[in-house]
Amino acid sequence: MFETIEKEIIKNKQFLTDVLDGLSSDSKHISSKYFYDKKGDAIFQQIMHMDEYYLTNAELDIFESHKSEIARIFFPEQQPFNLIEFGAGDGMKTKVLLKELLNHEIPFDYVPIDISQNALDQLHQSLTKEMPDLSFKGIQGDYFEVLNKLKESNGRRNVVLFLGSNIGNFTNDEAQSFTSNISNKLNPGDLLFIGVDLKKDPKKILLAYNDSKGITAEFNYNLLRRINRELGGNFDVEQFEHHPTYDPVTGECKSALLSKIEQEVELDGQTFHFAEWEPIHTEISRKYSLKQLHQLAKKSGFEVKKDLFDANQYFVDSIWEIV
Ligand SMILES: C[S@@+](CC[C@H](N)C(=O)[O-])C[C@H]1O[C@@H](n2cnc3c(N)ncnc32)[C@H](O)[C@@H]1O
Repeated sequence: MFETIEKEIIKNKQFLTDVLDGLSSDSKHISSKYFYDKKGDAIFQQIMHMDEYYLTNAELDIFESHKSEIARIFFPEQQPFNLIEFGAGDGMKTKVLLKELLNHEIPFDYVPIDISQNALDQLHQSLTKEMPDLSFKGIQGDYFEVLNKLKESNGRRNVVLFLGSNIGNFTNDEAQSFTSNISNKLNPGDLLFIGVDLKKDPKKILLAYNDSKGITAEFNYNLLRRINRELGGNFDVEQFEHHPTYDPVTGECKSALLSKIEQEVELDGQTFHFAEWEPIHTEISRKYSLKQLHQLAKKSGFEVKKDLFDANQYFVDSIWEIV
C-alpha cells in the first residue's frame, strides 16, 4: 500500500518536473507519454475505433491474415519464450496473436510494459477473463527505464513487440537509440516485431489526427486537463486550439496546442507567459518509408526477416532478428 503511494508520488514528481521544463523552454513542449492517464486511455480507445484512424484496422488486418505464420516465426524451436510488449495499451490486436499461441499450446510468458498503470490493470483484467491460461507478467514504467531491466531475463528466447506505430512518437535520434538499445539487450535468434505506419496520401494521414468529431482534439486537450487535475495547474483549456500538421518531406505528423490569446498560466508557483498563437508541441507521429525502416533495422544491429502488409499497404509489421 505505502509502496504504491510512494511510486505514485515519484511518478507525479517526474511529471511535474518534465512539464515545468517543457513550458520553460523557448519552444514549449510536453511529452506525448503524458497523454495516458485513465481519461487519456479511454479517449485513445475511442480514437482506435474511429473510421479516420486507419492504423488500427490496418494492423488488425495483418494480425488476422498472418497469425499462424507469425506464431510459426515466434516459436521455431518449440522452446518456451518471453513475449515482451512495449506500450501494450488495451492489447486489442495482440489478443489475436495471444489466442493463436494459446490454441497451439505454445508455452510463453506475456510481458506487457506500459507507462499507464490503468492500461495495464485493465489489460490484466480482460486477459484473466478471456484467456485464463495465459501467464501474464505486466510491468509499469517508461520504455527506456524498463529497457535497462531487460537484461535480467530468464534465459529464454525473447520476442519483443512494439506495435501501433509507437516508434513514430520518437524523433529520428530517439528511434535509433531505442531500437539499438533493444538490440543490445537481445541475443542471437531473438526478434523485434515492429508495427509502423507508412508514408501515404498526406490528406489521409492528417485526418487520422484531426477527425471530424474532435476526438483527437479532446485527446490533446486532456493533457492540459490532466496537468490541472494532477499538478494543480490553471490552464483555461478553452483558450487553446488543437493543431495537427503533416510534412510529407520529413514524414512528421506533429500535434500542437496553440494559445488562442496572449495569456499566463500558473503551475507550481511559476507563471508561464503565452503569446497569441504560441504553440506547445505535444506529439510527433512519424511516418516511414520501407527503405527508412530497413535502414533503421540495419543501423540498430538487426536483420529484416519478414515484412507483413495489410491489404491497402498502409502499414507494415516488420520482423527483425538478431543474427
Ligand atoms: C498509441 S497507444 C498504442 C497501444 C497499442 N500498442 C496499440 O497498438 O494499440 C500507446 C501506448 O503506449 C504507452 N506509452 C506511451 N509512451 C510510453 C512510454 N514512454 N513508456 C511506456 N509506455 C508508453 C501508452 O500508455 C499507451 O498505452
